[in-house]
Amino acid sequence: MSMGQAKRQVADRGSLCERDEAMRRRAIGVFDSGVGGLTVLKAIQARLPHERTVYLGDTARVPYGQRSAEVVIRYSADNARFLLGQDIKILVVACNTASALALASLREWLDIPVIGVIEPGARAAIAASQSGRIGVIGTRATVQSEAYQRALRDLRRDVDLCAVACPLFVPLAEEGWVDGDIARAVASRHLAAFEGFEMDTLVLGCTHYPLLKGAIAEVVGGRVTLVDSAEATALAVERLLCERGWDAPEGDGDASANRHRCFVTDQPEIFASVGARFLGRALPVVERVRLAEQA
Ligand code: DGL
Repeated sequence: MSMGQAKRQVADRGSLCERDEAMRRRAIGVFDSGVGGLTVLKAIQARLPHERTVYLGDTARVPYGQRSAEVVIRYSADNARFLLGQDIKILVVACNTASALALASLREWLDIPVIGVIEPGARAAIAASQSGRIGVIGTRATVQSEAYQRALRDLRRDVDLCAVACPLFVPLAEEGWVDGDIARAVASRHLAAFEGFEMDTLVLGCTHYPLLKGAIAEVVGGRVTLVDSAEATALAVERLLCERGWDAPEGDGDASANRHRCFVTDQPEIFASVGARFLGRALPVVERVRLAEQA
């Protein structure tokens, strides 16, 4: 190797290190159609307390679960474009519907890593299940896409699956009606489809559903393990950041007032009150944004 080449290599390494240092200080971008993705944000903040986060809830266009793949891909692209403008180093698609329908497109378009919730959720379910009889609940779009069914079968060939769409859980979660008679009645009606299917594990395949965990558990009974993808997704984010050396330096921005930012596309007050109840603490100021392509 010539001296010139060696110097260039050292200089390249220098600029690579600088780039990685800058990356470490960037935020983790997270989006969902609404309040559900806070289940994932909560797990990320608990696991990675030094990271900055930016959350976007597309409350003007929730629910995604009743829409076509083409529309969900377009909405997801709008969300990603907004978050990219917020200086993020990784995008977490904290929405099963968008993960099922738009993950491949987002990965193709973006030059930062994109993590969805389905693969981590499927891993957690396989780890939890003894019998291999696994129920999946999600939005209509997620269930019809068969993304969970594929992810689960890829991990364990002999699984016995039953997947059911539970569309009414999303508006209940958005309204904060997560317990009481109405939540229980809706849960009983939706989950009646599992009668006769002896599952030991139920995947909450929509990030809104963990908010209704209590009502769901009452209906399916204590012997069924409820699995959501929040923890497993946070772990996947941690692994990826550590692998790349992009994890935030300890104490970085810990005292900074805007370390966690939160945006929605409509009704910030409702989001802030439901979100705070769920997170058990006040959210940062929830700002309303208008996305470039928002209908
Ligand atoms: N929370 C989302 C999901 O995980 C979307 C629900 C919806 O907007 O229908 O699928």
